[in-house]
Amino acid sequence: MIIEPRMRGFICLTAHPEGCAQSIKNQIEYVKSKGEINGPKRVLVVGASTGFGLASRITAAFGSGASTIGVFFEKEPAPGKTATPGWYNSAAFEQEAQKAGLYAKSINGDAFSDEIKQKTIDMIKSDLGQVDLIIYSLASPVRLHPKTGVLHRSALKPIGQTFSDKTVDFHTGVVSQVSIEPAVQEDIDNTVVVMGGEDWTMWIEAMKNAGVLADGATTVAYSYIGPEVTEAVYRKGTIGRAKDHLEATAFEISDVLKDLGGKAYVSVNKALVTQASSAIPVIPLYISLLYKTMKEKGLHEGCIEQMQRLFADRLYNGGEVSLDDKGRIRIDDWEMRADVQDTVKSLWSKADTDTLKEIGDLAGYKHDFLNLFGFGFDGVDYLADTDEMVNIPSIL
Ligand code: NAD
Ligand code: NA
Repeated sequence: MIIEPRMRGFICLTAHPEGCAQSIKNQIEYVKSKGEINGPKRVLVVGASTGFGLASRITAAFGSGASTIGVFFEKEPAPGKTATPGWYNSAAFEQEAQKAGLYAKSINGDAFSDEIKQKTIDMIKSDLGQVDLIIYSLASPVRLHPKTGVLHRSALKPIGQTFSDKTVDFHTGVVSQVSIEPAVQEDIDNTVVVMGGEDWTMWIEAMKNAGVLADGATTVAYSYIGPEVTEAVYRKGTIGRAKDHLEATAFEISDVLKDLGGKAYVSVNKALVTQASSAIPVIPLYISLLYKTMKEKGLHEGCIEQMQRLFADRLYNGGEVSLDDKGRIRIDDWEMRADVQDTVKSLWSKADTDTLKEIGDLAGYKHDFLNLFGFGFDGVDYLADTDEMVNIPSIL
């Protein structure tokens, strides 16, 4: 079929397999161009099919020659209906890994469930024995709690007071005022259950009990801080409470890993266009101003540049892992640089529908958004008849 982008709200309903494959190739080329990383050899990535998790998997495999198991929740294709992009990404990743002689297998299902954890542990046992690194990179709006059977829904709301500020519809470029009512306690609790650290702990404890964690095993989850303009709706909002919980959980997991000589980290990453971040009000406007500023200063990075730097300069630099005063890895260091933030802040006050075309990188935002779904890549013939029924080799 001829596959075109079909937009609905914050998502695109279609994905292009050849474009997703091109995206994987580009990311692999980038990692290889930066040279070898003396990193982990057996890696589990939970949330491995898109965004930061996918970039982590590519970095581990093509930077340090790691065997990887990827867990994700994606929709497979049906005749005339494309898969979700993470499905095509994973299919292409496995193919490239195979070509390079690297072990790569995937598990598609709900990572919050006991069943998928057990399936993953069984796969590690039979294929790899143990793992050295576990990347935890889930972004989900819901979690079915495996012990209570309750379906929790996260919220993106401010806490304590109504939030009002500018936001942009990145499809149309229209800047408007948005108002979000404050969360009730239940919203906060649910968001912490979905995006906090409980499930991360469940993964590590289950793996430890099963004996599949290697001596010195490391685990890393991802967080975000961001600027003042997004604080009310992000870091001081419901999602921020979940990130506080996730960050606190790293210390608890480090205790669990102590007798193995292992450690849990949280890495604070840069704001980037992903499926998860596009759905958060205000963030797209901030990102479009941030991209403009960071590109002008030669500081712009995407997920793969961020993850390559996380592995090479922080986790596997041959020495100490540098941490901030709260014990976190900071690869949002360039985003948070005073000169970058000062510029973004002054642009923010000027941003409206007319000025944004000039002062913001809306084109860059849209381009990255299309790229998430495999569209807009050089070297892909989008007019060609394309087979949507692509298999993930290890899943079939
Ligand atoms: P993403 O949407 O690109 O990736 C989410 C991944 O989770 C996908 O692989 C998806 O398949 C998987 N997933 C979702 N629900 C699942 C489930 N129930 N079972 C199994 N897999 C499931 O998101 P992302 O932006 O890469 O986010 C990853 C982490 O990075 C999150 O913790 C996010 O808060 C954090 N982060 C994101 C940004 C940003 O700007 N995008 C910045 C800093 C930190
Ligand atoms: Na991810």
